Amino acid sequence: MMSFTSSTRSVPTTSAVPRHVAIIMDGNGRWANNRSLPRFAGHHRGVETVRATVKTCLECGIEYLTLFAFSSENWRRPQEEVKLLMQLFLRALKHEVKKLDRNGVCLRVVGDLSRFEPELQALIRASEQRTAHNSRLVLTIAANYGGRWDILQAVRRMLNSNPEKSDGWDESDLAPYLAMSYAPEPDLFIRTGGEQRISNFLLWQLAYSELYFTEVLWPEFDALAFEAALASYRQRERRFGRTSEQLSAGSLPAVSLTDTRIDA
Ligand code: IPE
Ligand code: IPE
Ligand code: MG
Repeated sequence: MMSFTSSTRSVPTTSAVPRHVAIIMDGNGRWANNRSLPRFAGHHRGVETVRATVKTCLECGIEYLTLFAFSSENWRRPQEEVKLLMQLFLRALKHEVKKLDRNGVCLRVVGDLSRFEPELQALIRASEQRTAHNSRLVLTIAANYGGRWDILQAVRRMLNSNPEKSDGWDESDLAPYLAMSYAPEPDLFIRTGGEQRISNFLLWQLAYSELYFTEVLWPEFDALAFEAALASYRQRERRFGRTSEQLSAGSLPAVSLTDTRIDA
């Protein structure tokens, strides 16, 4: 299995274009409310923004795009809205996979899928298999995903991998069991819709991500709004714990933190 630099164990190399962008697509309901439309119209419109966002990523050479589509807490919404969201997900998968495949997009879905209808689960698996050979862009949809669920399932699987071992676990033991172990940590996190919170998204993986919040509602998050987020990212100084002076002194060798582990 491929492994990626952990931002806490060593200093990752970064570039002007984020390698991995993770987005909380928020504000569909308010977009619809503003137009006296049912909330669902906002979700429907949001799918078009997803299409446009994928296109921008392909054009900019962003390698990983992760979209929060349904949180583990979104089941608390009215049953009718949950039902419509599931139908929309199913329909979007059916319609888009062919085009994603043609464009070299590898589709992955992360989250506790066991709660979904068998038809949706099967379609997810089939879509993943169909696009598995692609590598131009890895598009991850987080569905029934929760950051706490992810950490817990990873810990559980890590412990099961070596039941005899009682102590001395470290980060690199856990990392392979996280739902997104196939991707580097997000460089840029974007949340549309004006709220400034993480809402149980990628809690572990966002440790050193640059955070960008915008008032723009998801259905209106167009290429220009995305470019504004990318421009903000370019201005950031990613220090990963070091000082500004160290950074301007030039490229220091990445210090490995592997030897600083404190065993009990
Ligand atoms: C985000 O938009 C989509 C999902 C959570 C599925 P919302 O539906 O949360 O929109 P607002 O926040 O009510 O405007
Ligand atoms: C977060 O949006 C989840 C998704 C976008 C899928 P919410 O709209 O559910 O978040 P809260 O409830 O406002 O924190
Ligand atoms: Mg919301």
